[in-house]
Amino acid sequence: MSRDWADAFAAVPREVFLPDLMWPYDMDTGASRSVDRRTDPVAWERAAYANVPITTQWDDGQHTGPGPGRVPTSSASMPSVVTRMLADLDVRPGARVLEIGTGTGRNAGLLAERLGERSVVTVEVDERVAARARAALGSLGLYPEVVCADGRWGHPAGAPYDRVIVTAGVRGFPPAWLAQTRPGGVILAPWGTHYSHEDALVRLTVAEDGSASGPFLRPLEFMKIRAQRLDWRRFAGHVGAYPGDAAASVTSVPLAELGEGRPFRGARFVLGLCVPECAQVLNTGEGEATLWFFDMTEGSRAWASVRFRDGEREATVHQWGPRRLWDEVARALAWWRERGRPGVDGFGLTVTPEGGCRPWCGGPGEPVPSFGGGG
Ligand SMILES: C[S@@+](CC[C@H](N)C(=O)[O-])C[C@H]1O[C@@H](n2cnc3c(N)ncnc32)[C@H](O)[C@@H]1O
Repeated sequence: MSRDWADAFAAVPREVFLPDLMWPYDMDTGASRSVDRRTDPVAWERAAYANVPITTQWDDGQHTGPGPGRVPTSSASMPSVVTRMLADLDVRPGARVLEIGTGTGRNAGLLAERLGERSVVTVEVDERVAARARAALGSLGLYPEVVCADGRWGHPAGAPYDRVIVTAGVRGFPPAWLAQTRPGGVILAPWGTHYSHEDALVRLTVAEDGSASGPFLRPLEFMKIRAQRLDWRRFAGHVGAYPGDAAASVTSVPLAELGEGRPFRGARFVLGLCVPECAQVLNTGEGEATLWFFDMTEGSRAWASVRFRDGEREATVHQWGPRRLWDEVARALAWWRERGRPGVDGFGLTVTPEGGCRPWCGGPGEPVPSFGGGG
């Protein structure tokens, strides 16, 4: 940790922001387990200081009971991620900062301690989460402005900001964030597409004309902002009969090359940049796995599936509807391969003042090709 942040971290301990009942993420099993300070204070304290994210709310607060819920909807971010993101934000004394996604309030507390509470505004969509964060901050004598609202609107009353830090995953950039940031200011956010959960942290610098552009720094996945979560139920009617009259073919592309079953290597992130309006999901079964692709274009029910069987060199492809989704993915994969498979830090994003996202590879003048719609 850099010296300029050390005092703030010492003055704003994580445990102050954590509830008695919480669900630390287990890095080995990939699951969350519950820990309750009232029944096991030792395990609670160990979890509070472990370098893991801790879920503090499930299912938008609808979940009750000690077991984990369905969707984690608020959390205390992983300490190493907090430290690195604050370093990337590159704040200087006097900077005004807007945070989207207050959560426990710890990040806002660190910023308020470093910059002064009048320089920090944080927006949280959930009333109970916001109230808990305010109380935790107040217990340390910190009173940054905690606004309970949909963060997509930013907070115009506190603008202009020098820095905007988004601590929830986004699928698009609301024009309000750009409009409320000073030219030369920075917006830092985990961004990705609906193709997969593989997101990356982008650091945008706002230009005089109100657009913003900058590189992806590294892979980073956060829980998604409320209105931009993918609702899988929207695909319930896509596949009527399987395979029905879908066009059949084969492919020799191995599942691993598509980024499945291995740690983040960028494949799914990049395919999401190149194949617009497409969601991908993997279903695994005994000795086989099927990769599904669904068209998200309004009114379209196009889908594709690729079934991989253990020990077989070729996988069976089915494609149905106006888009040939697998052909698009295969062309995008070939493009990425030809470019030498650049990692996420080889890519960047330009956002128009209206919020249009234009990914690039190598530099802002080199847009990532779109393989959508047969292009
Ligand atoms: C990963 S947590 C943030 C962690 C937090 N910064 C901390 O220091 O603990 C993400 C938060 O974003 C909030 N959120 C989701 N959608 C939002 C929205 N549209 N506007 C504001 N907050 C939102 C969630 O309720 C959740 O509390």
